[in-house]
Amino acid sequence: VHRKLLITGAAGGMGRACARLLGATHDLILTDVTAPALDGFAAELAVEGYAIAGCQAGDVGDDALLEALVGHLADGEPFGLVHTAGLSPSMADWRRVMDVNLVATEKLLRAIEPRLVPGSVAVLIASAAGYVPSGVPDASAILADPLAPDFIARIGGEIERLANGNAVAASGLSYLLSKLGVLEMVERRGHRWGAKGARIASISPGLILTPMGRRELDFLPAAGDMDQAVSVGRSGRAMDIALAARFLLSDEASFITGSDLKVDGGSIAVTKAMMAG
Ligand SMILES: NC(=O)c1ccc[n+]([C@@H]2O[C@H](COP(=O)([O-])OP(=O)(O)OC[C@H]3O[C@@H](n4cnc5c(N)ncnc54)[C@H](O)[C@@H]3O)[C@@H](O)[C@H]2O)c1
Repeated sequence: VHRKLLITGAAGGMGRACARLLGATHDLILTDVTAPALDGFAAELAVEGYAIAGCQAGDVGDDALLEALVGHLADGEPFGLVHTAGLSPSMADWRRVMDVNLVATEKLLRAIEPRLVPGSVAVLIASAAGYVPSGVPDASAILADPLAPDFIARIGGEIERLANGNAVAASGLSYLLSKLGVLEMVERRGHRWGAKGARIASISPGLILTPMGRRELDFLPAAGDMDQAVSVGRSGRAMDIALAARFLLSDEASFITGSDLKVDGGSIAVTKAMMAG
């Protein structure tokens, strides 16, 4: 019997690569907000012999969807999660970016946490953007509780203050803060998950040539800078992320929890050095 693996954003660039690679050794539960793309991809995988244990479209922050997805997990058996669903700055306003990238991620984790058993592992896709200083003085304190009733008002106040009426800057700052929130969410949970025999880790990709990465290259000068800053002589591929996720899900990573793996071709280090002058 194969372990079940839930993949969010399964119709996206990283989601597809993760499904193809990890579907070799897992029964897949796939979800994405775009139903036609998701159904088409699941049908393609099924024809190729992959085991699809569940396939359901919807917004990853939707409570009913989360309940249905968790229902596909077998009682008492360890499972994996690779959470790739997300929005980049050019795709939405600051509020939606924060809602999908951070608030929905917190809801997703809370939905699966009652099901954790020894051997369960979650991998969340954060971003190199999470390493860029935000300029928000008490960001970590606010980001620590994304489901607080005043969360959007507090973080929104900081974003709007710094963006000063510039909607593009607001989305960019929201993206950066949402991913910092994901990094810290993983750090905070490692110990608690360990008590249940479960692990949680994040991956911070640099620029990856998925539909999202291509889009940011067109819209955002910083994405081009990140691509230029790689130290390995090529751009990032979705499969680079899938390979890292496979490692983190495996027993070979059994000493890794509550932490982040940068899969960025060295670009975070180069960018940091450049910013330091
Ligand atoms: N591509 C990059 O350069 C890059 C770099 C750093 C981090 N990331 C992060 O990696 C993750 C995956 O990105 P990708 O490059 O595969 O992007 P992608 O756009 O190819 O795929 C993302 C998928 O998430 C889905 N999605 C968006 N909003 C959703 C919602 N509300 N509910 C459910 N599904 C939703 C989209 O439909 C899409 O299929 C994202 O979290 C992104 O922020 C990407």
